[in-house]
Amino acid sequence: MATADANLVVHESASVSPDARIYPSTRGTRIVIGAHSSIEPFAMIRCVGGRGDVIIGEHCYVNPGCVIYSGNGVTMGNHVLLAPGVMVMPTNHQWERRDVPIREQGFRPSKGGVVIGDDVWVGANAVLLDGARIGRGAIIGAGAVVAGEIPEYEIWGGSPCALLKRRP
Ligand SMILES: CC(C)(COP(=O)(O)OP(=O)(O)OC[C@H]1O[C@@H](n2cnc3c(N)ncnc32)[C@H](O)[C@@H]1OP(=O)(O)O)[C@@H](O)C(=O)NCCC(=O)NCCS
Repeated sequence: MATADANLVVHESASVSPDARIYPSTRGTRIVIGAHSSIEPFAMIRCVGGRGDVIIGEHCYVNPGCVIYSGNGVTMGNHVLLAPGVMVMPTNHQWERRDVPIREQGFRPSKGGVVIGDDVWVGANAVLLDGARIGRGAIIGAGAVVAGEIPEYEIWGGSPCALLKRRP
């Protein structure tokens, strides 16, 4: 492992574009990028909105324009493809009070972050919310909003996200 920072571990075989932006945590949460994974230009990973880690497995591909916030945690398996513009946002502002601006209310309780299984393809501009659990081999259509469980090897799309078909 090549380690640039205590909170940022990038495997020596991984590739991070010089035009990608990775902001290591100052609060002790971790970003880990596994072997042979690639973070493309203009992708961004930020530790904000919670205490979760961002763990990216091996042979993953994070395309241009993806934004990954750590929030309540992001775990990607191996061979995961995030198409351009995918937003991984496992955090929600608190909004229960009307007398305090939302930005001063902190964050809502965790729903467990975002967990992506092995060999998942997430289509362009999809949004993955806190509590999204995407099973192995699943495909998420372009523009989908995912907030819950997606079973293995199924293809889901739209908002609200619904089953489109199953992989053979
Ligand atoms: C989800 C996807 C993989 C399905 O592809 P497909 O199997 O060829 O799907 P089809 O074109 O046969 O469509 C099947 C049905 O799903 C619907 N559908 C397809 N993609 C959809 C999407 N992203 N959101 C909502 N509905 C979608 C179609 O309208 C169709 O509905 P119908 O049966 O009512 O007519 C594809 O549409 C998609 O979104 N690909 C992402 C592309 C991308 O991001 N590329 C970046 C490369 S890294």
